Parts: sequence; C-alpha cells; structure tokens
Amino acid sequence: DWTTGNVIEEQVEAIRAQVGDKRAICGLSGGVDSAVAAALVQKAIGSQLTCVYVDHGLMRKGETEQVEKDFVAATGVQLKVVDASERFLKALAGVSDPEEKRKIIGREFIRVFEQAQAEIIADEGPAVEFLVQGTLYPDVVESGGGTGTANIKSHHNVGGLPEDLEFRLIEPLRKLFKDEVRMVGQELGLPEEIVQRQPFPGPGLGIRIVGEVTKERLDLLREADAIAREELTAAGLDRDIWQCPVVLLADVRSVGVQGDGRTYGHPIVLRPVSSEDAMTADWSRLPYDVLAKISTRITNEVADVNRVVLDVTSKPPGTIEWE
Ligand code: XMP
Repeated sequence: DWTTGNVIEEQVEAIRAQVGDKRAICGLSGGVDSAVAAALVQKAIGSQLTCVYVDHGLMRKGETEQVEKDFVAATGVQLKVVDASERFLKALAGVSDPEEKRKIIGREFIRVFEQAQAEIIADEGPAVEFLVQGTLYPDVVESGGGTGTANIKSHHNVGGLPEDLEFRLIEPLRKLFKDEVRMVGQELGLPEEIVQRQPFPGPGLGIRIVGEVTKERLDLLREADAIAREELTAAGLDRDIWQCPVVLLADVRSVGVQGDGRTYGHPIVLRPVSSEDAMTADWSRLPYDVLAKISTRITNEVADVNRVVLDVTSKPPGTIEWE
C-alpha cells in the first residue's frame, strides 16, 4: 500500500544501508523538494548529514531566516549558511540582459557551493561520499526527453551541479510527484510554510527586476513582494494560484501625485497565474478588493513606487516570469 509512512520507512532503511558510516551533504534552495529530501535523509542518518544553503541575496523577505530557523527547528539538521550576496551583486553589476543574468547567477552559485563543499570535507574528517538531491519523478521523466521549451530560457535549477562531481547520489524522492512530496514533508513534521510553498525560481528576484540588479532595487522589490504575499495569504488565495511573481520595471518611470505633489517613480507589476504544471498558465482573476489592497499598500509603503499594474497575459504568449 502506498502511504507516506511506508515511503518514509522504506527510504530511511535504504538510505541507512547505502550510507553506512560515511557522510552526506545536501544543497538547500529554500524550495519544497530539497527541504523534504534533506529532512528524509536527516531522519535516516542524523548528524552524518550537513546541509548547505547559499544566500545569493536575491531571496525574498524572510526566506533565508525561514531556512535558518524553521527548517533547523523542525529537523535539527546541521546547516552551513553561506552569505554570498556581495559576490552575486558584484557579478551582476551592469548586466541587464535576462539570459546573461541567468548564466551569471548559475555560475556563481556553483562556485560558492563547491567552495562550501570543500570546506565541509576539510572540516569533518570522515569521508563525504554522498550528495542528496530532491529530484522528483517528473524531473526524471523530463530529463529523458526535451520539453520543447529549452531554448526559451536557461532554466537554471540552482540545485544543479557539475557533471564531474565525485559523489554518489541519494535521491529519495525519485518516484514521487509534487503532491506526494508535500505529504511526506508534512508527515516528517516540516512546517506548513515550507511544505506548501509555491514555486520560486532559482535565480530569485534577479530575474524579476527588469534592468540592472542593484541592492537598492532588490530591497524595494522585496518590500513590494512581501506586501503582495501577505495580502494574498490573508485573503486565503495561496492555494488558488500557482504563484504570483512581483516584478519591478526598474528602467521605467511614470508621473504620479502623492502626498505633497508630483512623483516620478517606478511601476510594480503583479503577475498572478493559475497553472497545472507551469508549461501553460492563465492569469488569475483575483478579486478586485484584494488587488486594490495590494496596490494601495505598495504605493503607500514602498518608496519610489507610484504605480501598480496587473499582467493579464496567459502563457503562451507570455512566460510566467518576465525574464
Ligand atoms: P516560465 O517563466 O518559463 O516559468 O514560464 C515556469 C516556471 O518555472 C519557474 N522558473 C524557474 N525555476 N529555476 C527554477 O528553479 C529557474 O531558472 C526558473 N525560471 C523560471 C517559474 O517561477 C515558473 O514556476
């Protein structure tokens, strides 16, 4: 019988047998899959596992703290957090082209991850032989045949690793679909905020700033995004939408009137979508009062933003993310 309890028990036993007294490491992205994979391996081998989380500075508000506190509290896992935000900002300076941004972020991520990995190996004594990955069944299937979208964007799953890596893989979610992974995560005691998380792209807010990525722009977008998420959650809409990217048009300005007079600020785009698998999507018909609340709060609370616009494009022709 398929039950989450059985899956966990089976995997725990298999992982223990596979790892023996060796060590394993796992990259955490903040997403559901890597979190559940890590929790499962943690249950099996405890302190023989070390997790690595690379903070590239392109995370949303509270995201890094969520991994640091909630995830560690729920699992007791050993976590190495690498603050690499300076390094990413430097590498992204002056770059506006979406594909170039994606490539830089992917490259820097791998470099930082490898460095962290080497440090763990140097520190920990017994050999680190295993690498945990949150590969799901659809990932396995899709990597067998092209999805037809490969040339649209370089989807860089930042959990991705170079091919010459000298590790044996542990992939405890290889036979599971996303909803099953969420159930396993729940059973393992992971907090709701992690288990029910909506998708978030590996390159993070870096591909939600149309224009150059700077610290000031990231801070501004983080505020606007936090407001949108707060209001969507408060309205009970999280399960109704696939995700809602919030985008800053950093190179666009428009005239507004706020407080004492004229402003000349940036627009924020709301991109709420409904989808089954992100291959196609429709724009979500959100209630007007929720949109109104988000708009009012963003223009009141976020400096330098004087306009909020709604993206009413399906996919195709639009992609979900703007870059
Ligand atoms: P698009 O923009 O291609 O996005 O319609 C489809 C889904 O994929 C997510 N996305 C990414 N996820 N790394 C990821 O892990 C990426 O580079 C990436 N780019 C887009 C996007 O949020 C949506 O859910």
